Amino acid sequence: MSGGEEPEGQRQADEAPGNRQVFDTTVAHSARVHDYWLGGKDNYAADRAAGDAVIAAYPGIVKSVRANRAFLARVVRHLAGEAGIRQFLDIGTGIPAANNTHEVAQSVVPDCRVVYVDYDPVVLAHARALLTSSEQGATDYIDADLRGPETIIQQAARTLDFSRPVAVMLIAIMHLVVDQDDPYGIVGRLLAAVPPGSYLALSQVASDIEAEQMAEAAKRYNRLAHETQRHRTHAEVTRFFDGLDLLPPGLVPVQKWRPDSEIEAKTKSAMWGGVGYKR
Ligand SMILES: C[S@@+](CC[C@H](N)C(=O)[O-])C[C@H]1O[C@@H](n2cnc3c(N)ncnc32)[C@H](O)[C@@H]1O
Repeated sequence: MSGGEEPEGQRQADEAPGNRQVFDTTVAHSARVHDYWLGGKDNYAADRAAGDAVIAAYPGIVKSVRANRAFLARVVRHLAGEAGIRQFLDIGTGIPAANNTHEVAQSVVPDCRVVYVDYDPVVLAHARALLTSSEQGATDYIDADLRGPETIIQQAARTLDFSRPVAVMLIAIMHLVVDQDDPYGIVGRLLAAVPPGSYLALSQVASDIEAEQMAEAAKRYNRLAHETQRHRTHAEVTRFFDGLDLLPPGLVPVQKWRPDSEIEAKTKSAMWGGVGYKR
């Protein structure tokens, strides 16, 4: 499936009840807009229009999403390496891109086990690329909604042992969970399901970095897209780590979280990122 084919107007409605995503190419969806900003091909005209509307309000968005992908890779490398984590639950996976979680984790320790979760049908269509595990490790993909964390835990238990530490990864997804959907409660329920020694890795779009541009970007995106963005302040994002020990350097702009080089540290983003440890 590629944006080049442009089946505009196609609506493969999955008539399942509740919040199940439908494959509607006429409305922008976060996975495909994100793919557009990352230079991918799995996006449609509506996604590109929403992506361009955000770029017009906040031209730094492309650097921001790239800095976030680099944050993801550094975090996974740290967790699989120094922290000794062997199990990852990556929720809001996105369309496969460079440095998917299992590729990074298994390049450090081949027997890492990774479960991916997303609710977008286009991500599901590309899930095969996420299931290319090393022989020693394992990967799985769950087509599910973060707003039902119990279903995710139940299905992830096919692959992950919840009596042993798990890294719960919520990378660039919580800004797509609005306050009415109880974002703090959802994160709390996920963390309650993992034992001491587990980690939370989380990044989220900021409302207090480039505040004016970000407010305009959210307004434009929300007019055009399926999901509503809820940008958050440093204090609001810190709250996701309540009860955890934040690893140094704390909650910082993603490019400042243990950057590999000065150049990396100097790039710009409007995203907060951090890693917490469950004692
Ligand atoms: C901005 S992308 C981030 C992708 C990847 N984590 C990264 O940082 O590069 C957000 C992803 O979260 C998914 N997503 C948004 N809301 C979700 C929900 N309620 N349940 C499951 N997935 C969701 C979208 O489909 C999309 O693939």
